[in-house]
Amino acid sequence: MKIVKTIAEVRAEVKQWKKQGLTVGLVPTMGFLHEGHQSLIERAVKENDRVVVSDFVNPTQFGPNEDLASYPRDLERDAKLCEGAGAAILFNPEPEEMYYANKTTSVHMEGLTTELCGKSRPIHFDGVCSVVSKLFNIVTPDRAYFGQKDAQQLAVIKRMVRDLNFDIEIVGCPIIREADGLAKSSRNTYLSEAERKAAVILSQSLKVGRELIENGEKDAAKVKAAMIAKLETESLARIDYVEVVDAENIVLVDTITENTLIAMAVYIGNTRLIDNTIIEA
Ligand code: PAF
Repeated sequence: MKIVKTIAEVRAEVKQWKKQGLTVGLVPTMGFLHEGHQSLIERAVKENDRVVVSDFVNPTQFGPNEDLASYPRDLERDAKLCEGAGAAILFNPEPEEMYYANKTTSVHMEGLTTELCGKSRPIHFDGVCSVVSKLFNIVTPDRAYFGQKDAQQLAVIKRMVRDLNFDIEIVGCPIIREADGLAKSSRNTYLSEAERKAAVILSQSLKVGRELIENGEKDAAKVKAAMIAKLETESLARIDYVEVVDAENIVLVDTITENTLIAMAVYIGNTRLIDNTIIEA
């Protein structure tokens, strides 16, 4: 596996692969990889001849008071994981390689970003759409892989790909969880021992919601209230949002149907964690 720092080098490699008729998968990440990322890379390796993993902490998707400076980084460990999972290239550009100092273009997403994380992180999804578009143009993959844990991000990327006619298949992959149910996240590393224990309340609250729905509850307000009540039993938890939305359009719904996303963001101490579940047929 090669660690590549420049756009020109990635393009040269991909050009050679495409000349040989090989298919290319892309797994966009911000590094500090865990088993969730590993599952995306392994799936991409199964479904494509060559896989590029991008490892770039994208400054444009962080708000002024967010954790850009402290976001965990470990390139050596990431490289081992990528190599073990079968990636061909780990693309790790510096911010100056990705962004011109006098850049004037970005991708703006409307509609799907007014609820959930978009509400408390107003510039986040424009930053995500801009960097993912750039990665798509640099790597020109056949398929790109995103985790369902960032359910709103996945919906946003699918919409962007449709609206901007990217010829790329977007593959959503299941949430990978710790044994106690906590969704794997690079940000879990911020949690103290007590906070790590408390963080299980997110998945427990989702379970409360799921069980109500499995027993026939269709009223979104009732499901939401029960989930909030569960979260409130944990003194270290502070709710940013718990919402019930249409999974494709990310608009609030009153009634639960088979395409409903139940999503939450909760602070455990100072760490903001997200989790969700999709209600299928
Ligand atoms: O999900 C992430 O890690 C990031 O938002 C992404 C898609 C790599 C864009 O920076």
